Amino acid sequence: MSRLLPKTAFALGLFAGATLATTAPVPPAATTQVTAERIGDGIAAFLPPGVTAYPHSLALLRTPEAEGAVPADWPIRPRFDRHDGKTRVTVTVPQGADLYGTGEVTGPLRRNGESITLWNTDNFEYAKDDGKRLYQSHPWVLGVRPDGSAFGVLFDSTWRATLATGSDIVFESSGPAMPVIVIDRASPQAVLKGLAELTGTMPLPPRWALGYQQSRWSYTPDTRVLQIADEFRKRRIPADVIWMDIDYMDGFRVFSFDPKTFPDPKRLNRELHARGFHSVWMIDPGVKIDPGYKVYDSGTAQDVWVKDAQDHDYRGTVWPGAVVFPDFTRPQTQQWWSDLYMDFMAQGADGVWNDMNEPSVFNVDGQTMPDDNRHRGGGELVPGPHLEYHNVYGMLMVHATREGIQAANPDKRPFVLTRSNFLGGQRYAATWTGDNASTWDDLKLSIPMSINLGLSGQPFSGPDIGGFSGVATPGLWANWIAVGAFYPFSRGHTIKAPQQKEPWAFGPAVEQTARIAIERRYRLLPYLYTLFRQSSVHGVPVMRPVFFADPRDPQLRAEQQAFLLGDDLLVVPAFAQHPALPQGIWRTVSLVDGDRADPLQATLKVRGGAIVPLGRIVQDSNENSFQPLTLLVSLDARGQAQGTLYEDAGDGYGYRHGEYRLTSYRAERQGDTVKVSIAGREGRWPAAARPLVVQLITDAGVIAARGKDGKVTLQLPRAH
Ligand code: GLC
Repeated sequence: MSRLLPKTAFALGLFAGATLATTAPVPPAATTQVTAERIGDGIAAFLPPGVTAYPHSLALLRTPEAEGAVPADWPIRPRFDRHDGKTRVTVTVPQGADLYGTGEVTGPLRRNGESITLWNTDNFEYAKDDGKRLYQSHPWVLGVRPDGSAFGVLFDSTWRATLATGSDIVFESSGPAMPVIVIDRASPQAVLKGLAELTGTMPLPPRWALGYQQSRWSYTPDTRVLQIADEFRKRRIPADVIWMDIDYMDGFRVFSFDPKTFPDPKRLNRELHARGFHSVWMIDPGVKIDPGYKVYDSGTAQDVWVKDAQDHDYRGTVWPGAVVFPDFTRPQTQQWWSDLYMDFMAQGADGVWNDMNEPSVFNVDGQTMPDDNRHRGGGELVPGPHLEYHNVYGMLMVHATREGIQAANPDKRPFVLTRSNFLGGQRYAATWTGDNASTWDDLKLSIPMSINLGLSGQPFSGPDIGGFSGVATPGLWANWIAVGAFYPFSRGHTIKAPQQKEPWAFGPAVEQTARIAIERRYRLLPYLYTLFRQSSVHGVPVMRPVFFADPRDPQLRAEQQAFLLGDDLLVVPAFAQHPALPQGIWRTVSLVDGDRADPLQATLKVRGGAIVPLGRIVQDSNENSFQPLTLLVSLDARGQAQGTLYEDAGDGYGYRHGEYRLTSYRAERQGDTVKVSIAGREGRWPAAARPLVVQLITDAGVIAARGKDGKVTLQLPRAH
């Protein structure tokens, strides 16, 4: 347990409710009142009665420190009580506020009137419990008031809970009373920055992870993997990653390779790299009970497994048959698990896919381990039942995975994808939204799902493009890739049977739609990478709700088909019906020949006042896309525009030591000319002498000019 109220609180007498008369430190005593402390700019922590120190938190980066008293007029104050044997926290929703966040959820973007269960669940086709509990838990609600000011409420508990978002936000937990943190700031963007100050940000991923990725359960044998890679190159459809699902393993033993179908993984990875691809390989938590199998033997020798209530190794059934599960609450287990990646990554894998980590257990009620299983904890984690640690099982696992692959490849940025996670888990892994289905509903649902994940701290997410289970019609798959090219995480994936779901599997017309959509993504890579960098610094999402363009516009609050990438690019899917779009100047752009003629492509609009950096079409992100660099310029009403471009080596950590370049561009109309210049530079990554194309988007069409980076002047026709 760590103290919430160290230095200043006692020294300054700023104890909750100003009940503390003395300035001398006093030991914490059990209170009958709620303790409230300001812990940051516009952030207050509330401890329930009886709790005097902030307990260790898995969601937070660090234990909050008191900075002073909560202002007397602080508007949002949680109430704590017990109800039906549960710990209950109630927060009154300010009049007219719209609610968002709540993590990975089905249903609408706007969360008012919703109710979910926070209990990570393997939920095939989102069918269980009507999709009201999924693979991840985020005990977090974002609220936006009618005036555009915003608040966020973080219930700092990992225990099983329900979260209802009606006229009150009601959080009911099976665990003890928990701290509640409230952020209150001027805008939803500022609240999300506050959430990032508390829970951390996504570390900058390697640039290749922003490319299009192709998966299936499973590409096997290894020659099939290479065929798929070759097919992308032959057909000139850009792609960066091929994924290895469970069948590469030897009898589903994690960290092993099937000797017949994947006899030489090192060679396969080498061959993929030679074709400009990266590889991501699946690792599940369940370890096959199989004496003689290295992973099982070493885990048993080190006593790493989760115990049942009788203190025996808990046994469940997953893909390999009978398995045991690492107890990731133990530091020893974390270390053991991390170490397993040393040899694995030495095979040349580029990333790791952690699945089934709710954890999913087959053939048992609830499809997970019993509530009273025992986690032994250690370090800062107290021993506790599965009921306490279930929701963070996946997060603890991906933390250890990330550490392991980082140690194996210290000079590279790790890439981990996880199915299960918890609030704050963006620090360790990206997310896909599990086993969706090939239906129109799931396509439409995927947009608010990814937006709400972003509004809950996780910017790097996307669904299985095309749908995991069931049969995708050509029309559905084409519509899906047309918008899927703009998810932060863009990966096609599918279940085993009955269908192939690669971009070319649905005939030439769909293939052409896919090619155009993916080429658009690749042209946008410089912009996307800049957004990922921003997100890794400030925590604002990459994929944003349309209402971010104007949080005071009530018309935008429920828009869930159109969305923003960053502040400057609006994506309107072809299937969006009567989308609510922001006021102001938004100009439609073409990024690739034929995109505007294809009725399935999303409409892309650039904000007036923005400069969006583009690359050329490349087949994978290893290619230099800055030949030339293109700046799309959309002037505002005053004839001005601004934009930024972030660049670095694309992998590694040089950027942390100044090896990056952040260039701010400015465009300004002066009479009949528009001057595009560099307004500022940061970082010491050398400035490449590269050609620049400026495309000025006007209401009458595009005017283009070429020149040197930072020095282009466009001549406007007289009519302008
Ligand atoms: C789970 C995953 C899915 C994967 C399958 C086989 O259902 O969600 O993506 O293909 O397991 O590993």
